[in-house]
This record gives sequence, C-alpha cells and structure tokens, in this order.
Amino acid sequence: MEAKLSEASRRVAPSPIQQLSHLAQRVDAVNLAEGFPDFSAPAHIKAAAAAAIAADLNQYRHVQGICDILARTMKRDHGLVVDPLTDFVICCGQSEAFAAAIFAIIDRGDEVLLFDPVFETYQTCIELARGVPVYVPLDPPSWTLNEDKFLKSFTNRTKAVVLNSPHNPTGKVFSKEELLVIAQACQKMDCFAITDEVYEYITYDENKHISLASLPGMQDRTIITSSLSKTYSVTGWRIGWACAPASIASAIRNIHVKLTDSAPAPFQEAALIALTSPPDFYTSLKKDYTERRDFILKMLTDFGLRISFKPQGSIFVFAELPRSWNLSDMDFVTNLITNAGVAAVPGCGFFHSSTDDPSCHHRYVRFAFCKSDNTLNAAAQRMRKLADSDARMRPDGQADQTASATSP
Ligand SMILES: Cc1ncc(COP(=O)(O)O)c(C=O)c1O
Repeated sequence: MEAKLSEASRRVAPSPIQQLSHLAQRVDAVNLAEGFPDFSAPAHIKAAAAAAIAADLNQYRHVQGICDILARTMKRDHGLVVDPLTDFVICCGQSEAFAAAIFAIIDRGDEVLLFDPVFETYQTCIELARGVPVYVPLDPPSWTLNEDKFLKSFTNRTKAVVLNSPHNPTGKVFSKEELLVIAQACQKMDCFAITDEVYEYITYDENKHISLASLPGMQDRTIITSSLSKTYSVTGWRIGWACAPASIASAIRNIHVKLTDSAPAPFQEAALIALTSPPDFYTSLKKDYTERRDFILKMLTDFGLRISFKPQGSIFVFAELPRSWNLSDMDFVTNLITNAGVAAVPGCGFFHSSTDDPSCHHRYVRFAFCKSDNTLNAAAQRMRKLADSDARMRPDGQADQTASATSP
C-alpha cells in the first residue's frame, strides 16, 4: 500500500538532519540540537496544571480567560486593540495555529514568502495546503533583509509573507526599519502577514521585539501566532494561539475545530496563571537566557567556531565554521556527535534559496542553549576534550583513539 501514499506525505520524508538525530540518540549525546528547555518549568505554573487535573478539567475546553489576558497584553506591549471574544483562536501550540492560518488563507498555487534561512515547519504546512513557498534570502553575516531581493520576490500570486522574529535559527530580531519595508510591501501588494512570535519575550541587550501588526496599516492583514512553549518552558503542553481580525480568526477557528477541536484542557487552565506572571518573571527570563547565551558563545569561540552574528533574541546561536577547517556542516556535526557526544543541527536544513554565496548553506551549525547548567557544562567539557585531541576539524567522524575516548 506504500505506493498509495500521498504525494504530499512523500515530501515530508525524514531529512538527513533527522538521521543525525538518531545517531545522537544512539550515542546518548548531550542535546544542543533541539529547541526545548531541559530545565524545570516554573513551579507555580506546574501547580496550576496539577490542580486542573485534580479538579477533573478533562474534557474539550475553550478557556476564554486566556483570550481576555492576551487582549490586555497585546494592548500593553504593542498598543493593539483586539476583541477577546472574536479575535483569538486557542490552538495546540504555535504549530497548529500556523497550520490552521495557512489552511484558512492559501489556495492551490498561492505563493508565500519565507525569509531564508527558515524554521522548517512553515514549508510543509504551505505545501500541504498546495501553496508554493518562495524563499527570500537574508544576507549574512547579520542576516539583513535585502529590500531589493525582497521586493523582487513578489508576484501576482503572492498571498502572504511569513515573519518569524526573534528568528530561528539565526537569533536575529528584525529592526523597525526592516519591519517597515515588510509592512509597506504587504500593503502595496495587498497580502497577508503571518507572524511567529514564540520568542517574543526572549531578547537580549538593547534589542526589542516589535510586532509587525503594530505598524500602521498592518493589523487588518496580520495573523499573529505565538504560544506558551518557549516563554514558560512548556513545549510539551501544546498551548498556542492565533490572533487576527474577527473574520479571519473565525476561518482559522473553524479549521482548528476540525483539526484538533481544542487545546489540552488542564494546560489551558495553567495558561491563565502563566500569562499573568509578574514582571520579575520576564526580567529573570531574559537575565537567565543572557547568561546561557554568553556561556555558549564563549564555549563555541573557545572551540574555534566563528560567531559572526551574536544572537539578539531566541534560544539559538548560528555559529559559522572557519573556512580553513574545510569541513561541511554535516561533516562537522557528525564528527561532533561521534567524537564529542554533543548534538547540534547542521545549518543546511534551514536554507533553500539560491544565493550569491551557495557555500554559505554548508557553513553554519545551530546550537540551542535553552539547556540546564549541567547540560551546558557537560557539552563544554566534551567539546574541550575534542578540541584538545585536535580532532575537531576531521571529517567523517574519523577521530583518533584519544578523541574516541571522549565519546560516552
Ligand atoms: C520559530 C518557532 N516557531 C514555533 C515553534 C514551535 O512552537 P509550538 O511549540 O508552540 O508549536 C518553534 C519550536 O522550536 C520555533 O522555533
């Protein structure tokens, strides 16, 4: 029956990156590959979830209080006036909110602009809706939006632009000037914007997250998606939302109800507590993540990797392989997993567009630093051993005996 699988399902076959992930599991590597925190979620939020289960909140559920709180937050943080009764859809994470938004607006052949490198799930959703992803390369080393390339990517089939800021995998926070370029183009070309703001509260130094919807003329055409996952360290709870003008939110809601009906009931209750965390919570979130970012930057530079762009937000660093190592990202990660027992993600999986410098697709490696001190220290120790054995730039994981001794 395999031959009868859909064409779309064949296109979502496992990537080489997933094979590396299996290798990492086999050698029990320290996981700096995946973007989920391995430290505890805040105790007051967990207590709220446990209490909701104890109170038998076990059935399909829409917790309107989440929308009420989010509406107040949108006003406070972005000056956006949204109607809590009509403009929100509570979904199973940003992932479902994004998928439902795409199904609500994309028809066969519609084009959707994605900034490249790009978080991997968008493409699949667009293709499942029979849309066409069109990639707009960001310019390294600072992943700058090139206005000319961007504007030339529009056609009369362009239906939407997807904006993820703070950005996975680069850690870029789009500047106000860049957002204005995107906003003007969306209005001129009369298309939607879909934003992914899951890292909205994780920004560093003077960088500030600005929601594209808050720019003049944008609220009417923007679908905001976000979730509890990263801010509250609960990626497995699957609580997210889409926020859009009532008629668009209604279409997204109809699809959401057919896809999953409702997000997990006890965790919606806990969301009420999470979303009303005091200001200190967000201050210490930034402080803790700044410390983790600075730790990993030092660890990677000590190892010899280049940090051509210091993360401005998110939980990732996109480190560059020195050209002198003459090693592809896949070779490097294979070596790192096999000989140091540390897993990261080869950058090639995030790139799609043609660029002036195609070698750039194989020169980056993404490290996630949403990890406990123990995990980060273990990774640092293992990488130090690998560097000492001088096997760090050896392709195909063919390290010498000394290096193999560092494997778990
Ligand atoms: C940019 C981005 N968006 C969305 C998600 C997934 O969010 P959720 O857990 O809310 O589905 C991730 C997870 O890594 C991400 O990096």
